[in-house]
Amino acid sequence: MARNVRAGLLATPKDLSPWPKYFYDAEGSRLFEEITRLPEYYQTRTEASIFRQRARQIVSRARWRELVELGSGSASKTRTLLDAMFEARAPGEEVRLRYVPLDVSESALKESGRRLIREYPELEIHGFVGDFERSLEPLLNAHTKADDGESSGGRLVVFLGGTIGNFTPERRQAFLDEIRAGLRPGDHLLVGVDLVKDARTLEAAYDDGAGVTERFNKNLLKVINERLGAGFDPDLFEHRAIYRTEKTRIEMWLRSRVEQEVYVAGADLSVRFEAGECMRTEISAKFTPESVRRMFAEANLQLLDLYTDERELFGLAFGARA
Ligand code: SAH
Ligand code: AVI
Repeated sequence: MARNVRAGLLATPKDLSPWPKYFYDAEGSRLFEEITRLPEYYQTRTEASIFRQRARQIVSRARWRELVELGSGSASKTRTLLDAMFEARAPGEEVRLRYVPLDVSESALKESGRRLIREYPELEIHGFVGDFERSLEPLLNAHTKADDGESSGGRLVVFLGGTIGNFTPERRQAFLDEIRAGLRPGDHLLVGVDLVKDARTLEAAYDDGAGVTERFNKNLLKVINERLGAGFDPDLFEHRAIYRTEKTRIEMWLRSRVEQEVYVAGADLSVRFEAGECMRTEISAKFTPESVRRMFAEANLQLLDLYTDERELFGLAFGARA
């Protein structure tokens, strides 16, 4: 983290967006959950409605024994899929279903895990706290040897919420390459993508009236203070969210209200901000059906379907190894 934050603060413009994982300490995860309930943040409820409409249809496409979820967070939408997977089992079928969530946020993982254990006593759960940019290969290759023919049905790997949009384009492609390499015959992939729409709707979703996204953005400074002994005063920064049409992405920034110098002990760095200077903290890419197709094709993935809501606000891209 020290190395990354140092690189981000020395970049021009200052840029912490390549490491979205630092947003998600316990408070960041809590604030994200609050964001998902905001009237302006249509993403989560739209993705949930696509699941309510399509879960059965999705589940009918293969007989998965395992649901792997990357960046699972509160796993709120996962239940709809699990319900459909349980429903689809033949009467009297004994085979157990396994849920394998991976998240960098231990608090979110434990909380959702505890709830799922209570709600689905028949479900086997193996939760992992980890970074999906580092631990994907071992995760997707786990169980392979231990599985006998009986229990090793296919796996559905899900990556929801539009989190794929938080990668830089290069990392997004590397990430999909790694998923593809880990998919076995019978495995499938389901990726939630936020779709391109008018700038007003998009900017409102990242600059809500209640100021929750502002708190989420500034929480990044608190995480850096705590973990790297830095001296950021979040009140000396303003939240900004802009939609960059040419890049089809939202960018979140923090703008320094004053000229200031901030010491980051753990990164052995003192960094100057001019009054009005902006630091990028997050990108959130938006897709079109065409750019989803391209993204899958570049990763050698076959796009089998793109499920959307009637207003085409959000999409669920379903695919497999090409
Ligand atoms: N999938 C959930 C949560 C989305 S928020 C939903 O759709 O609502 C993004 C989630 O990804 C958070 O829970 C965060 O902790 C997790 N995350 C972000 N970067 C990560 C990384 N590098 N490795 C693992 N999890 C990560
Ligand atoms: C997790 N991710 C998809 C969210 C997004 O919309 O890019 C994170 C977020 N940032 C601000 N609001 C929500």
